[in-house]
Amino acid sequence: MPARDSDHSIQFRLAYRALLLVSRGASERDAVQRAAALDPRSIGVKREALALVLGTVGEQDVIDILVRNVHPEEKMGMNARCLFRLTAYAMLRLGAKGQTRRIEHSLRTIAPIELLPRLEFFLGTLSAFDPTQQLHGLRDSERVALETHHPVWWVNYCFRAFGRTDAVELLSSRTRPRYLRVNPLKNRGRTTLPKELGVLAERLTKVLSTPGVYTVARSLSDFAGFFSSGSFQMQDLASFLAVKAGAPMPGENVLDLCAAPGAKTAAIAQLMKNRGTIVSVDYSRRRMNGWRREVQRLGVKIADPVISDASWLGLRDSFDLVIIDPPCTGTGVFDRNPRMKWHLSPKSVERYSTLQRSFLDSAASLVEKEGRILYCTCSLTLEENEDVVSRFLKSHLEFETRPILEQYGSPGLRGMSDCRRFFPHRDHAAGYFIARLQRTN
Ligand SMILES: C[S@@+](CC[C@H](N)C(=O)[O-])C[C@H]1O[C@@H](n2cnc3c(N)ncnc32)[C@H](O)[C@@H]1O
Repeated sequence: MPARDSDHSIQFRLAYRALLLVSRGASERDAVQRAAALDPRSIGVKREALALVLGTVGEQDVIDILVRNVHPEEKMGMNARCLFRLTAYAMLRLGAKGQTRRIEHSLRTIAPIELLPRLEFFLGTLSAFDPTQQLHGLRDSERVALETHHPVWWVNYCFRAFGRTDAVELLSSRTRPRYLRVNPLKNRGRTTLPKELGVLAERLTKVLSTPGVYTVARSLSDFAGFFSSGSFQMQDLASFLAVKAGAPMPGENVLDLCAAPGAKTAAIAQLMKNRGTIVSVDYSRRRMNGWRREVQRLGVKIADPVISDASWLGLRDSFDLVIIDPPCTGTGVFDRNPRMKWHLSPKSVERYSTLQRSFLDSAASLVEKEGRILYCTCSLTLEENEDVVSRFLKSHLEFETRPILEQYGSPGLRGMSDCRRFFPHRDHAAGYFIARLQRTN
């Protein structure tokens, strides 16, 4: 009878299946969820499997060099490629912690039988691989790219935009904290820790600058039991501060453009104390299903969903506040979506920038006379941020920027000092850009 899979092997099998899904276009998190749904035994090891997937995808550049070195001639199918990628990551990064035999055992357990001989060969050659040898003779940006696991064009971009020293720190930054925010809509209007979360207090550290916001130590799974009650929301600090910078007030009429999966809608409703109206627009029906679940869980009563294209809105109302959180390159959140590093190019930056400009333009006519727009992205590029805003201001003289969040982050670049930027390595938050545009007459 074959030996029962250990938790360790189950974790590796889940990571392997998820990597295959990522190679077909799924996000890392979705891939782990979908793969876990196929095997009830894997429910308890999702977190560990996700860490393996994020690590493997995040370091894919060096890993693929290694795989090519071992099998230079071979046209490799995705099954083999994903298995060898996982093998390389686990052995190079985790093997040093005295885990080698356990990892090898798990890899042998999960490998398709036809790949076993090549896996053995691969494992045998791994010990001779010296990643530092790959760095010889490279130009500076190529070396930084391999050392920090980013494409060379992005390293060059960061050098130009932020200067080499800051760029290297930014590119080398790894994880940022996870933030939990108390939901006053389910806590009698208060931002103090509800009683039920008290038992987890030792896992939480107050963010002193922002009442009701905590960083979470270690695993999120301890919080899962409290999730459905809606007493808290997980949202990056910068994303919440973007909503705060818009200053939504009770009784106002707010348009939330690009709203799914609803993190900002919920934060807006909290600041409005569930008084007033929010119209939340997104063109993805699937993501808006997630929005519905989230606003319901968090007790939001004032938001209506509209499924529509944000650049062709048929709305006639005007709004006190329009929040625009458009799709972007996500260059400020590579740590949580590392696959995006390998898909983006300077062309994608241009494409997003054009789309973002069209959203801002279509929002302008929907803003009340004394109303405002809050524009934000989780991208670090100038084209998606300062450039979008400055082009908008040139063609809409009725709008001006206003200072925001002066005690947080750093000023926008290219002289746009009213705007705010957040950098993962300096601010322990997602890379973010936030601008508040006031309509004046
Ligand atoms: C950055 S996410 C928004 C996150 C959301 N504001 C939140 O805080 O949870 C961008 C959203 O834009 C939506 N989107 C992309 N293109 C769109 C378009 N042309 N019209 C409307 N929504 C669009 C995507 O479906 C995605 O949900």
